[in-house]
Amino acid sequence: MTSTTQLINRQFRLKSRPSGRVTKDNFDFVEQNIPELEKDQILVRTIYLSLDPTNRIWMSDMEQYLPPVQLGEVMRGLGIGKVVRSKNSKFKEGAYVSGVLGWQEYVVSDGRGAWPLTVLPKLPGLSLEIMAGAAGMTGLTAFFGFFEIGKPKEGETMVVSAAAGAVGSIVGQLGKISGMRVVGIAGGEEKCAWLKNELKFDAAIDYKNPDWKKHLEEATPDGVDINFENVGGEIMEAVYKRMNLHSRFVLCGLISGYNDTDDKKSRLSIAPALMKRIKIEGFIITDYVQRFQEAATKLVMWMAAGKIKHKETIIDGLENAPESLNLLFDGGNTGKLLIKVSEP
Ligand SMILES: NC(=O)c1ccc[n+]([C@@H]2O[C@H](COP(=O)([O-])OP(=O)(O)OC[C@H]3O[C@@H](n4cnc5c(N)ncnc54)[C@H](OP(=O)(O)O)[C@@H]3O)[C@@H](O)[C@H]2O)c1
Repeated sequence: MTSTTQLINRQFRLKSRPSGRVTKDNFDFVEQNIPELEKDQILVRTIYLSLDPTNRIWMSDMEQYLPPVQLGEVMRGLGIGKVVRSKNSKFKEGAYVSGVLGWQEYVVSDGRGAWPLTVLPKLPGLSLEIMAGAAGMTGLTAFFGFFEIGKPKEGETMVVSAAAGAVGSIVGQLGKISGMRVVGIAGGEEKCAWLKNELKFDAAIDYKNPDWKKHLEEATPDGVDINFENVGGEIMEAVYKRMNLHSRFVLCGLISGYNDTDDKKSRLSIAPALMKRIKIEGFIITDYVQRFQEAATKLVMWMAAGKIKHKETIIDGLENAPESLNLLFDGGNTGKLLIKVSEP
């Protein structure tokens, strides 16, 4: 077996904070030798890197829920990898793990600390792509935001923005499982057709159509009981206007503003929240880490029963990570966006 020191790691280190869109120039793409493993350490080869809107937040020095990635550091990123060497009995060689692997081909870890690695179960039908998305961080975000903050009731109406994306597509299907009227907002006719025909949303609004606000009104004749907010800006304002008495506003993300240098796109008048007793609550998925197992099990069961469908947009090659992140801001992905770094 080759010694780890004969393997070369390639990694993206943050060189400068992006202003607006991310470019390759914001990073140094460096090669490094891998050190000899110490006791309790493992070597993980990255298979899938998850590209997430939060990567863009971590690159900035805006106020955020984690320390920003520092200049010179390996770019932080979630992923799924395979244990290729192990000096730790908890992680067997050949096991698949998920966690913060970083934008790199290999990571040396003891599996503990602020970002513990989780060994993934080997179950028939449970692919690595599902574990990186629909039953992974984005599926869990949909689950906890929808059930814990949305507090769904049968017969109510939910609107979800970025509805054809990783989180939004699962949220909408959880709404259908819960007996809600589900209205998705997405960019383009093709995505809207997928939401209606495949995922069985009751309506899908193409916000690129100039009449989208009228279409939103028509699709929500009884107002909105849950707004699952992924986008912010003009879309958020239009949905907010239609929210009902005692409705819930699940503040999951504000992607339309992440490339901005100011917060101009995200303004809401707070008065309607008082008059209509709207509950607005932000959350970060790590708040629910103790309950991931329980939620992932339910998501997988619904997938096996055909009640939750999932899609992935997969880009080959770690070297494409920086520019591929922009697909999230251009709507170039349907479902979960992944970078395939190496073969399983
Ligand atoms: N709170 C948490 O813990 C947590 C965890 C994960 C994700 N999130 C948030 O959830 C949201 C969705 O994340 P995701 O990973 O599932 O990404 P995603 O929805 O798979 O991808 C982002 C999508 O957002 C849409 N979009 C981008 N810019 C837009 C704009 N200016 N106006 C309207 N739509 C726009 C695009 O779809 P279109 O083609 O439809 O424009 C794009 O495909 C993000 O806001 C993210 O920050 C929060």
